[in-house]
Amino acid sequence: MTSNDNDYLTIALPKGKLFSLSAKLLVRVGYTAEDLSDKSRKLIITNEEKKIRFIVSKTSDVPTYVEYGAADIGIIGKDVLLEANKEVYEMLDLGFGKCHLMMAVPKAEKREKLTDYDHTRVATKYPHIAEQFFGQRGMQMEYIKLNGSIELGPIVGLSESIVDIVETGTTLRENDLEEIVHIVDASARLIVNRVSFKLKFDRIHELVEDLRRVLNRGEE
Ligand code: PRP
Repeated sequence: MTSNDNDYLTIALPKGKLFSLSAKLLVRVGYTAEDLSDKSRKLIITNEEKKIRFIVSKTSDVPTYVEYGAADIGIIGKDVLLEANKEVYEMLDLGFGKCHLMMAVPKAEKREKLTDYDHTRVATKYPHIAEQFFGQRGMQMEYIKLNGSIELGPIVGLSESIVDIVETGTTLRENDLEEIVHIVDASARLIVNRVSFKLKFDRIHELVEDLRRVLNRGEE
């Protein structure tokens, strides 16, 4: 199966928090399929009648599937998209999955200013974004890549700080961490493969416009 099969439009959806919100939005524009549910373990779900294929991938892999054209379209958080830095078109802000990237430190060890953390260790799932952020401020940091539960880093002495996403703030609060710098806002985005955008322009354009209309109407 490749998305070069021009009859189909292949959409990569991320497992996890964004999955059901993405599926819910796509249903509103008639893009759905039997088994498209977070309870299913199927990785490829096809709607033969409408010639749509959904692939369900690990969140951080969605931009890769879209960049290489294994998927024509993907839904992904802006945080993951910025970190991946892939050659894809970002077409729409889908408005859900709102969060922001920030730097946080243990409350009890808060230093006076940001530059007091120069040459310290930062634990993060987003080393590229973090490096860009600190680099622009002339700071040289040691980046420790973690894949989850980033907040543990400074608590167990692995790092002095974290760069991570915050949604409700609960994880920071419950672990006595404090945000000290807001880095960038994020939310779910619709991304498109650059070749697919030309080859399947009519279908993709129609989907984007339908989504735009539905988003402008707001929640139903
Ligand atoms: C994310 C993020 C924070 C948390 C923030 O982790 O890394 O830990 O959510 O959300 P909050 O502000 O609402 O508490 P996620 O739940 O995706 O799991 P992970 O730690 O395994 O990455």
